Amino acid sequence: MSLIVAPSILSADFANLQRDVEMLNLSTADWIHVDIMDGIFVPNISFGLPVTQAIHRHAKKPLDVHLMIQQPDLYLEDFQKAGAAILTVHYEACTHLNRTCAAIRNLGMKAGVAINPHTPVDLLTDILGEIDLVLIMSVNPGFGGQKFIGRTYDKIRSLKRMIAERNLSVLIEVDGGVNTENASALAQAGADAIVAGNAVFSSANPAQVIEELKK
Ligand code: DX5
Ligand code: ZN
Repeated sequence: MSLIVAPSILSADFANLQRDVEMLNLSTADWIHVDIMDGIFVPNISFGLPVTQAIHRHAKKPLDVHLMIQQPDLYLEDFQKAGAAILTVHYEACTHLNRTCAAIRNLGMKAGVAINPHTPVDLLTDILGEIDLVLIMSVNPGFGGQKFIGRTYDKIRSLKRMIAERNLSVLIEVDGGVNTENASALAQAGADAIVAGNAVFSSANPAQVIEELKK
């Protein structure tokens, strides 16, 4: 299976969102990564439901929504209605993660769990059987364009082992500081999907970068 590439709309031109979404529609991108930040769970505010809805109106690819918010349970149904196909919540933000993931699946979405750089993959043992995707943060969430944290490779390998040992079909997605230099090493370590914001949107030819990331 080739690497799933999910360009992050956080790095798009917000004054030209329709144009940028249409560029992604025509590209070989697989998903569109949508970063929701509340200014409390992370020290930045991005955008919320109406913008997600607007992206969904033009998108021809599944929306991979990454909630960097406190109390995500309050908004699961809203994001389903706004067009999320995959809904990822943070391990660090959920007291009743099992209940939250079940609610996401009951709403007909794929359930993802994101972990911050300081959170060990071992903590996912008891939720792994109940989810579709793990999002390993390879930067501290909150901003695009940060430097990739090298320790992530070991986390990918450990998690891959945990998934294989139990014969599960959970996808591993890596988010933060991903570019054409590290994408193939990430795939080799066991990543199934990569998010790329800055690498894609700061390029003069985003579609070509997406193509290169997939190889
Ligand atoms: C960071 C976000 C990422 C971000 C990635 O908090 O979760 O999805 O958009 O951006 P780059 O690829 O620029 O690190
Ligand atoms: Zn993200």
